Order: sequence, then C-alpha cells, then structure tokens
Amino acid sequence: MSHEKIEKNITVMSVLIVAVISIGGLIEILPLMASSAATEPMEGIEPYPALQLAGRDIYVREGCYGCHSQQIRPFRSETERYGPYSVAGEFVYDRPFQFGSKRTGPDLARVGGRYSDDWHRIHLLKPQDLVPDSNMPAYPWLAEAEVDGDLITRKLRALKMLGDPYTDEQIAGAAAAVAGQSELDALVAYLQNLGTARSAR
Ligand code: HEC
Repeated sequence: MSHEKIEKNITVMSVLIVAVISIGGLIEILPLMASSAATEPMEGIEPYPALQLAGRDIYVREGCYGCHSQQIRPFRSETERYGPYSVAGEFVYDRPFQFGSKRTGPDLARVGGRYSDDWHRIHLLKPQDLVPDSNMPAYPWLAEAEVDGDLITRKLRALKMLGDPYTDEQIAGAAAAVAGQSELDALVAYLQNLGTARSAR
C-alpha cells in the first residue's frame, strides 16, 4: 500500500507534486528558449527608433491596452479583418509586450499605414469627430506635452544594456530625434509602424 503512504505523508507528497509539475513546465518552456522563432527578431523588425519608443511608452502610460489588443490569432475571422496573424519574432523588442486580452476597440497589431497621420491626430484628440458612436476617450493633453529627450536617451541606453542592438549613433541622436515633438507626434509614429514589417511580406 505504498500509494496510501505517499498520500498520507505531506512532505513526500509535496516533493512529488513539485517534481511532476516541474517536468511538465520544463517540457513546455525549454524548447521555446532554444527555438530561434521565439527569440530572434523577424526579418524587418528593428529596435524602436527614439520617437516610436516614446510613443510606445505613452501607449502604455495611457492604458490603451485596456481596450485594444495587439495580437492577431491564426483564425480566418481574424486574418480577414486585421491582416496576417501575429508571430513571436515580431515582439522581441516589446518590453513588456502589449498583447492585451480585451477588445473594446479593434486589434491594433497591424494598424500601421491603415490611416493617415492626420486621421490619427484627429481621432486621438476626439475620436467622435471621426467615429460618432465611438466610446474611445479623448486624449487632448498629448498635443500639449513634449517628449523628454533626456529621458528617451536614458531609455535607449537601458534597453541596450538589456541586449537591444542600438548603435552609439542612435543613442547619441535620440534627443535630437525627438526634439520639439509632442507626445501626440510620438504616439502617432508608434501606431503608424505597428505591424508594418509583417504586413509587407
Ligand atoms: C474605453 C476603450 C478605449 C480606450 C481606452 C482606447 N480606445 Fe482606441 N478605440 C476604442 C474603440 C471602441 C474604437 C473603435 C471606434 C473608433 O474608431 O473610435 C477604437 C479605435 C481606435 C483606433 C482605430 C483602429 C481601427 O482599426 O480602426 C486606434 C488607432 C485607436 N483606437 C488607438 C487608441 C490609442 C492609441 C489609445 C490610447 C491612447 C486608445 N485607442 C484607447 C476604444 C478605446
């Protein structure tokens, strides 16, 4: 009756539970770490240029992910509406990723290039001017705040330390690249690049 003994001994039982769960976990996680499809950037995917990186951080700060996902699933209903499904290699420079799980608004993974810059500006300042029934909030303050060049330089440097292949020129030029740009400019630059590398293939 060894089975009964194990069940009644909480220490042995715990050790065995941990062992079984670990094996399951390792079998799922280890192959992913070794697979280049999940860890290497897809062709055409580069670390975010300074202005887009600033825009991405504004996207996170404003909580856009609360209503928008950035992940197209491999189903016909999704690919017909949004474009090619998302692949892991598109997200290697996303820290943290913005997959999201709520779609009050449409998925944004391939919104880049779908509208003009002006469309995005008007839409972000007051969505209802373009889509009367929209329940997306307005973000008028973005037009008034400037992107902080110093901060973005430090962010590029930090990301380089984490392994993103920024060049010294990109870091040296980061402040100039965002000089005089509003948060609205940065967010639009970010949105206009979303998914374009894969859409182009
Ligand atoms: C309360 C939910 C909500 C939040 C928060 C929200 N949105 Fe939206 N968004 C929507 C809805 C609903 C639509 C569809 C109607 C429309 O176009 O306004 C939409 C549409 C969009 C579109 C057009 C997508 C397309 O394919 O037509 C973009 C781009 C967009 N939102 C960007 C953003 C950004 C950037 C933020 C954060 C600054 C944001 N949204 C925050 C609900 C939201």
